[in-house]
Amino acid sequence: MANAQLIDSYGRLHRRLRLSITDRCMFRCVYCMPEEVKWLDRRELLSYEELTRLSRVAVALGVERIRITGGEPLVRRDVPELVRELKGIPDLKDVSLTTNGVNLPGMARALYDAGLRRINISLDTLRRERFREIARRDAFDDVMAGIRAAEAAGFERIKINMVVMRGVNDDEIVDFARLARDTRHEVRYIEFMPLDGDSIWDRSKVITLKEIVARIEAAFPLLPPENLETPDPAREYRFADGKGGIGIIASVSQAFCEWCDRLRITADGKLRNCLFAVKETDLKTALRAGTSDDDLAALMAAGVYGKWAGHLINSPFYQKPERTMHAIGG
Ligand code: 5AD
Ligand code: SF4
Repeated sequence: MANAQLIDSYGRLHRRLRLSITDRCMFRCVYCMPEEVKWLDRRELLSYEELTRLSRVAVALGVERIRITGGEPLVRRDVPELVRELKGIPDLKDVSLTTNGVNLPGMARALYDAGLRRINISLDTLRRERFREIARRDAFDDVMAGIRAAEAAGFERIKINMVVMRGVNDDEIVDFARLARDTRHEVRYIEFMPLDGDSIWDRSKVITLKEIVARIEAAFPLLPPENLETPDPAREYRFADGKGGIGIIASVSQAFCEWCDRLRITADGKLRNCLFAVKETDLKTALRAGTSDDDLAALMAAGVYGKWAGHLINSPFYQKPERTMHAIGG
C-alpha cells in the first residue's frame, strides 16, 4: 500500500478523518437527535485499539488530521488514552476533539496532558432557559464551566460551534460575535443542516452565511474572508478592528463539496465518505474478521473512490441519511 492514497473519482484527495467514538450523548439537541434514541449496542462500538488501527491505516493513506467526535465523545471512558494513542501515530499532524463541554471540568487537563491542543465546544445560546429548550437538558452552567476548564487547561485554540436556527437562536448572532471578541475564541456559526431527528428542518429555518455576515457587520465590521476555495469548511472572517474573528460553515447556502477532503468513520465502524452519504463501507466486519492492513486500506480507498460530487440538499432528490447527526459524527 506504499503509495496508495484516498482519492475519489473527482480527484479529491482526502486528508481529514472524523472519528466518531460513540453515538451516545447526555443532551438531546433538537437539530441532532430525537428525544427517544435507540443507542448502538456497546459491542458494536469500535474499541480504542480498533479505532487506532483504522487511524494508522488511514494515515498511511495520507490522512493528516483526525478529529474525535460523537455523539458526545467524552461520555466514553479514558478518552485521553485514545488521544495519546493517536498522537503516537507518526505522520499524523493534528488531533482535535469536538465536545458539548459538559465533561470538560473533570477532563480538560487530562486531555491536554495527553497532547490534545485543539478543541471545539458546542454552544448554541447564552441564555439558560433557551439552552434547555435546544438541548432538552438543563446544563447551561455545566457547559460554561467546561469552557472555563478548557481555558484553564491551556488549550491553544478553542472554537465555539453555534448552530443557527431561525426563530430559535438567531437573535443571538451578534451576542456570539461579542463573545468571540471578548474571549478571542473563534465562534463558528453553522447553517442548520437537514440531519435532525424530529424532522424539524426546513429551508425557512436556515439562516444563511449572507444573513449572518450582514447581522454581524451591522455591529462589528468584518474583513473579507481569506480562505475561499480551500478544504476548510468554515469561511473565516477577522474583525476589521483586529479583535479576533469568527467562522461560518455554509453547508447549505454555499456548499463546499468541491473542496472536500473529509471522510468519517462511525462509532460502529462504517466508513462514510460524506456527511450526507446514504451508502457506507463496513470496516468493522473486515476488522473483526482479521483482515490485513493492506486489505483494510483497499476497502477504505474504495469507499472514498465512490464518493459523489456533492450533497443534494438543494435539489429535489435530497434523501436524508438514515442516521441522524448523533450517529454520524459532526
Ligand atoms: N446542522 C448543523 N450542525 C449540526 N450539528 C449537529 N447537528 C447539526 C445540524 N443538523 C453540529 C453540532 C456540533 C457539531 C458536531 O455538529 O452543533 O457542534
Ligand atoms: Fe449531543 Fe452534540 Fe448531538 Fe447535542 S449536538 S445532542 S451535544 S451529540
